[in-house]
Amino acid sequence: MDMDGLKRQAAAQALEHVRDGMKLGLGTGSTAKHFVELLGMRVRDGLSVIGVPTSEATRINAERCGIALTTLDEVDRLDLTVDGADEIDPSLNLIKGGGGALLREKIVAAASDRMIVIADDSKWVDVLGRFPLPVEVIPFGLAATRRAIGKAFAQCGDSGQMVLRKGKDGHVFVTDGGHWIVDAHLGRITDAPRLAGLLTSIPGVVEHGLFIGLAGMAVLAGAGGIRVVERR
Ligand code: A5P
Repeated sequence: MDMDGLKRQAAAQALEHVRDGMKLGLGTGSTAKHFVELLGMRVRDGLSVIGVPTSEATRINAERCGIALTTLDEVDRLDLTVDGADEIDPSLNLIKGGGGALLREKIVAAASDRMIVIADDSKWVDVLGRFPLPVEVIPFGLAATRRAIGKAFAQCGDSGQMVLRKGKDGHVFVTDGGHWIVDAHLGRITDAPRLAGLLTSIPGVVEHGLFIGLAGMAVLAGAGGIRVVERR
């Protein structure tokens, strides 16, 4: 089966955890897109759910699939968020934000009672960091913010090139929130929870792609079938 087929399998498995009446966080990316499409099919068959999208792209896709939407201003907590990831480690800590939606993704995941992460099994790693870590920043004072980010890496014993993300058009990539993203090529993150805390405390950093302690379950689809990993 090709990669896209594996992603759809993981999405289908996560759908088993959806119940009638649930309030759902809807993730972003190619794997989460499968989940939204499969959820839309269940909605057409009579399932009643309401969703909060984590990006404009997901909002448009969910509307196209006929899923009722709301916002975190209108509902208090969400029952479940289903989202993809760029890397997943054995503690179910994640790197997210390859698609640029990390800020809304983290707000939605943090407002959810449960988060299930869905992926093909190439996303499973022993140690986070091979995938460049996205750090969402305010354009004002970028050079100062980058220096502070570099200092946080050094404090954790990490280092690597920081690259301002560009879009396909060659211009600086702008997030749904109007911010920029610096991708940090660290190779290996020594202590992800510590680094997450340090990055969060930097003025100018809006959010970063380390999702620590948010995912409760990972559904990984591979050539040998589906593997479900729960956080201990
Ligand atoms: C979006 O900002 C990301 O966090 C995605 O969830 C992540 O990049 C996974 O995307 P794919 O499912 O397309 O690999």
